Amino acid sequence: MVRVGLLTSGGDCQALNAAMRGVVKGLSNNIKDLEVYGFFNGYKGLIYSDYRLLTSTDFSGILTKGGTILGSSRCPFKEMRTPDENGLDKVEAMKSNYYKLNLDCLVILGGNGTQKTANLLREEGLNIIHLPKTIDNDIFGTDMTFGFYSAIDVACDAIDRIHTTAASHNRVFIVEVMGHKVGWLTLYSGIASGADIILLPEIPYEEKYIIDAIEKRNQAGKGFTVIAVAEGAISKKESKLSKKELAKKRAKETHPSAAYRIAKLVEEKTGSEARVTVPGHTQRGGSPCPYDRALCTRLGSAAAKAIIEGKFGNMVGIIDGETKLVPLEKVAGKLKVVDPDSKMIKEAKYMGISFGDEDV
Ligand code: F6P
Repeated sequence: MVRVGLLTSGGDCQALNAAMRGVVKGLSNNIKDLEVYGFFNGYKGLIYSDYRLLTSTDFSGILTKGGTILGSSRCPFKEMRTPDENGLDKVEAMKSNYYKLNLDCLVILGGNGTQKTANLLREEGLNIIHLPKTIDNDIFGTDMTFGFYSAIDVACDAIDRIHTTAASHNRVFIVEVMGHKVGWLTLYSGIASGADIILLPEIPYEEKYIIDAIEKRNQAGKGFTVIAVAEGAISKKESKLSKKELAKKRAKETHPSAAYRIAKLVEEKTGSEARVTVPGHTQRGGSPCPYDRALCTRLGSAAAKAIIEGKFGNMVGIIDGETKLVPLEKVAGKLKVVDPDSKMIKEAKYMGISFGDEDV
């Protein structure tokens, strides 16, 4: 008998169900006696014994279904060692449930924070397999995270739709794209939808260059400008502040987020009308795109093989188009950021896209 636990933790994304289906199909196709336990709402389910024995019907028909059949929640890594309000030791509680169910492995689907806790549980002696989930694509050690391509579709669609209305009204439109501290999603969706200016956390902007790029377009007779701004975008000045100083500055600001900051700047400095669109959590919603379905099926299958072969303590990543087991200890706590000197950025700049950091 092989007993496997499954949980999905952190912000959801489109292909979580597809990935779990991949794992369970890979296991059930190769093991006769299998029990799969699903823990509900991320680590909370593992801490507070909220789980259910799942059957193959739970995994039928979910390849194309967004969200997660197990539910998810954010349980910050930094609070894992802090007892809960009733004094419960969360790490010990998770271990105790793992051993109580006699699990052979726990498959954890999640992003960076989730991965840190997965690594902690590995250090505590549990058999762990991690699958890299996030629309942000910021997990170190894998070329791609699942959810990323699906989110590009949504963000790109939002910017595409803005393009037609921007052209009709001769305005500056600013679309704020998710991505937390990194700019992958903004970079890909911005390029794919023909944004004129792309602002990323990895390339701090100078106000002057944003304004210059807009004015240059106006002078060329293009009365509108579309700006894709990452939620984490910062100015050059802000990039010099400490984390604490930046938080203090943000707390004093009246605009709610990056796109509104840029809109205010544009209106003050150019006199043009600016409009903001924030697709927000729609970027994580809906069905996974075909690429993510295929990716998750591959990652799930590779995870099942790793479990059967007893290769625990790994993330199943994808590198150069091939699935690969990557030791958690080598990647946990590291962030994969956009390289400002990468070819992709250089190619975009070469054809006139402004990143707000130099003249175009
Ligand atoms: O990590 C995924 C993500 O959607 C980020 O892009 C975003 O910053 C964050 O989660 C939003 O978190 P929440 O769903 O908790 O508001």
